[in-house]
Amino acid sequence: MKKAITITFAFVGIVFLASMIMNHSPAQPSLPSRNNGKVSKPISSNVMKIAERSCVKCHAEGGNGMAMMHLNISNWDKFSPEKQAGKAKDMCKMVSKGKMPPKGFREKNPDAIPTKDKAQIICDWATSIQVVKK
Ligand code: HEC
Repeated sequence: MKKAITITFAFVGIVFLASMIMNHSPAQPSLPSRNNGKVSKPISSNVMKIAERSCVKCHAEGGNGMAMMHLNISNWDKFSPEKQAGKAKDMCKMVSKGKMPPKGFREKNPDAIPTKDKAQIICDWATSIQVVKK
């Protein structure tokens, strides 16, 4: 009789454990980083090529403090789409007007001055990522 009780308890225990395992719901799948339901976009590769040559020396981690306060390309993916759109517009404006890269940098690195075509690439990209307000 004692043996039967032990077996019964063992059986109940196994059923209980099995039901716990089967009821275990998987963790929520992690969502990609989103801002207000819109996904932030990385800088397009053709613009990044220009930036790497002409901008990141100052505007990315380890660059110029003042420059990074205005624009830190290393944090780009953390910006909201609205902020990215605004910064892209500023980049287009500064490059088209010849204000960026700054004069001292231009004098020392004349081959890193974005050409008109390159400025146009930045501006076309800036236009393409503007956030449409509904
Ligand atoms: C030699 C360092 C240097 C380089 C290279 C450089 N910048 Fe800058 N940038 C600065 C500094 C410093 C400031 C802050 C200027 C100020 O406050 O007057 C700045 C400011 C800016 C701003 C903010 C302007 C404003 O008034 O809001 C933008 C946009 C910008 N840079 C874009 C660029 C782009 C695009 C490039 C590459 C084509 C570039 N910069 C290359 C140093 C640099």
